[in-house]
Amino acid sequence: MSARGRNGPDLDDDDDDDDWGDVGGERDDLTDVPDGVRLQKVLAAAGVGSRRHCEELIGAGRVEVDGQTVRRFGARVDPEHQVIRVDGKRIPSRQDVVYLAFNKPPKVLTAMSDDRGRRTITDFLGDRAERLFHVGRLDYDTEGLMLLTNDGELAHRLAHPSYEVAKTYLADVPGPVPRDMARRLATGIELEDGVAVADRFRVLEQTGSRALVEITLHEGRKHIVRRMLAEVGHPVARLVRTTVGPVKLGNLRPGATRDLTTKEIGELYAAVGL
Ligand code: URA
Repeated sequence: MSARGRNGPDLDDDDDDDDWGDVGGERDDLTDVPDGVRLQKVLAAAGVGSRRHCEELIGAGRVEVDGQTVRRFGARVDPEHQVIRVDGKRIPSRQDVVYLAFNKPPKVLTAMSDDRGRRTITDFLGDRAERLFHVGRLDYDTEGLMLLTNDGELAHRLAHPSYEVAKTYLADVPGPVPRDMARRLATGIELEDGVAVADRFRVLEQTGSRALVEITLHEGRKHIVRRMLAEVGHPVARLVRTTVGPVKLGNLRPGATRDLTTKEIGELYAAVGL
């Protein structure tokens, strides 16, 4: 399910849930916000599940607001400022925040505008009103998964070297690729700006003089995959990023975007300690 519940309930609409009353009777001073929104409504709008399912989660003690378990039906929260977690995973409760996966085509600049007139990410976003940040960069010629969001804190942390999440790439390289390549890349490749290490490497296909390889690393340095593979004698002809942390490119077509799921967003928050 999409995280933002674009077609789902709107937090501003006033409906029957005011009839809930204080079923549990207890007041939770730390989390209850008098003019806030019903917790189950916030959970449902964030894509956690139906209102009923969310009530069950609350009743089961699986929902936390600002670190405190809230079991009371009818609790009101401030979705813009409070941190809400289900089973320990943070949910995207702010209505103005968007999280997108974008399949960047080749020959597109990782930027929102370009004074030299090259195509940029903005050309693929239609008339979206939000001011989106791209999380990290892909080379002009590199294709594949980019995350876009207006959650500045998440974008900043995901791009920061101390939180580098694992990213996976498919590369078309000249073959054959020797059997010891995975070990060499895992040991570390000496580059001019220091050693670069792959977490994982495997050959997916070898056909004639070409090979399709998959490489996973935490690194965010410029041209890192191209430089590593060139250094070991396999210069990249085509490079596609297929995963960023828990998010997969899947069958998103080039130039298209999709909303991240609530689960993906929760896992991204967890990956960067939010
Ligand atoms: N490594 C590269 O060489 N290019 C990219 O765009 C990303 C990782």
